[in-house]
Amino acid sequence: MKAKQLAEGVYWVGAIDWNLRDYHGYTLPGTTYNAYLVVGKKHVALIDNTYPGHERQMMERIKDIVDPKKIDIIVANHVEKDHSGALPMLTKLLPGVPIYCTGCAVTGFEKHYDTEGWNFQTVKSLDKIDLGGKTLVFVEAPLLHWPDSMFTYLAEDKILFPNDAFGQHIAGWERFDDELGKEASLEHAKKFFANLIVPLAPKVLKKLDEVTKLGIPIDMIAPSHGIIWRSYVGDLLNSYVSWCNGAAKDKVTIVYDTMHHSTDLMAQSIAEGVMAEGVAVKVCLLKDGKFEGTHRSNVVTEILDSKAVLVGSPTLQDEVYPTVADFLSYLHGVRPGRLGKQKIGFAFGSHGGQGGAVRIMTRGLEAAGIEPISDGYELLYKPNAEELEKCYALGQDVARRVKMM
Ligand code: FEO
Repeated sequence: MKAKQLAEGVYWVGAIDWNLRDYHGYTLPGTTYNAYLVVGKKHVALIDNTYPGHERQMMERIKDIVDPKKIDIIVANHVEKDHSGALPMLTKLLPGVPIYCTGCAVTGFEKHYDTEGWNFQTVKSLDKIDLGGKTLVFVEAPLLHWPDSMFTYLAEDKILFPNDAFGQHIAGWERFDDELGKEASLEHAKKFFANLIVPLAPKVLKKLDEVTKLGIPIDMIAPSHGIIWRSYVGDLLNSYVSWCNGAAKDKVTIVYDTMHHSTDLMAQSIAEGVMAEGVAVKVCLLKDGKFEGTHRSNVVTEILDSKAVLVGSPTLQDEVYPTVADFLSYLHGVRPGRLGKQKIGFAFGSHGGQGGAVRIMTRGLEAAGIEPISDGYELLYKPNAEELEKCYALGQDVARRVKMM
């Protein structure tokens, strides 16, 4: 297995996980666990490592460059197992090797592994290590992604290793953004952002501002998942700022499930009303794994750049449909209302008795920070022509509001 050079003495030595399809509720076409080797004149540092079970790939790639026993510095930017899973093996291979990490990370590692004998070296922002012509500078980045997270910056080569930030879940032969292409690279970064970074958006903006004020030039961003940014760094940073600020299009996302196609008819009429106003609409039918459908992680990606979110469900035993409950729970975790600009929405659905799902979904929208523009629309059994007209008018109304936002 081969390493990939980023710059003189700097190599990607990560692992490709071709087969991963679900990662904490997120669908993905595989991923990579990126690790980087920095070879200085005095020291050899390994920045981050791999998920347990993928150590062999990383070690083979390291051997392509140096004898792994020459590694005398380990940098651990983040505790989560996808970037630290090789530490038990590495600390056996390299007894006493210093592990540079934040103070908070030490507590995290002690909870994850038997760390007896591990040589932690805690660092704070702007602490440095000279590897001999290669200087690593650390920047604490709490909650990007966990409290222990930090970024590492390689000064001479102007490479930022920000761990999860700026990552994407994708498995492929491509290591660099220009190999995958700008559009595809940003699309994968967008899904990653929509699912994992939205809850952290205010902290991301603050950190970007902090890094900008440090005045450190960044030629390359080498995250811990996916491709490495070298040709589209500016596009990526602009996209992050724009996503954090809640920039959205004149677009409505309708997400729903249906029991006997009544809520489905409502969704379709609402969508027609939206389209009649010249506003973009994305219609997402949630289904469980036995049927083709739109996965929650794709729906929240659609929501990222939508100004309005409409949620539909039949009432099932006084509750929302299970797939919609799953979606609302996930949406609550992501809480797109935390972004810089307000999103609006409403709930709709049919019922065969007392109803109730619309009330629950309206609360779910509020909990996710999306402003309900009404108490929603709930109807009995199958919608008749007049009720479908009302759905159409509701679609027109939300579209008009979207154009005013
Ligand atoms: Fe990719 Fe927070 O781990």
